[in-house]
Amino acid sequence: MVELESLYEEIRHCTKCRLHQTRTNAVPGEGPENARIMFIGEAPGFHEDRQGRPFVGAAGQFLDELLAGIGLKREEVYICNVIKCRPPGNRDPLKDEIEACAPYLDRQLEIIKPKLVVTLGRYSLAKFLPKASISKVRGQPIKVGNIICYPVLHPAAALHQPKWREAIEEDFKRIPKILEELDKMEIQGESKAKQLSLF
Ligand code: URA
Repeated sequence: MVELESLYEEIRHCTKCRLHQTRTNAVPGEGPENARIMFIGEAPGFHEDRQGRPFVGAAGQFLDELLAGIGLKREEVYICNVIKCRPPGNRDPLKDEIEACAPYLDRQLEIIKPKLVVTLGRYSLAKFLPKASISKVRGQPIKVGNIICYPVLHPAAALHQPKWREAIEEDFKRIPKILEELDKMEIQGESKAKQLSLF
């Protein structure tokens, strides 16, 4: 936890992009260092900026519900964002802001070494698959380097759209099975992975 805490301290004092001028608090992320799943959102919003914690507003409440639906508690998973400070007015993050913040997420991935990375929305997906369209790849685990990425819609986008809400709920329901298959792969070795036709 020492390594994570010192990373959080660095993020809280970061001045690498313009967003430090308008933030109330940076939002490094939270969750256990040995979490099996990492959820990556886009950027902190109003409530996250106030509290310094990820996904604590309406989208966060929905994320908690989605987690509960698959028997997971928020405390069991790791939750963070592509960028760690709120863009003013919740505008989309800019390219240079994403680039400046990228090393922090890279270090979180290195420290946590999650078995599964669930990308929430298109900015998070773009970190791993810059050219992919979320509507085409959502709900399918994809191996990117040594990371297994599982793209789903962003909870804020899905919250008020019945069609998308159904889609994100459906995609979340597959998570336990995916984890189970990843565990089997670990036991049986890479060669068996193909037989499981997970990718
Ligand atoms: N939306 C995000 O992408 N991240 C948060 O932390 C909150 C809302």
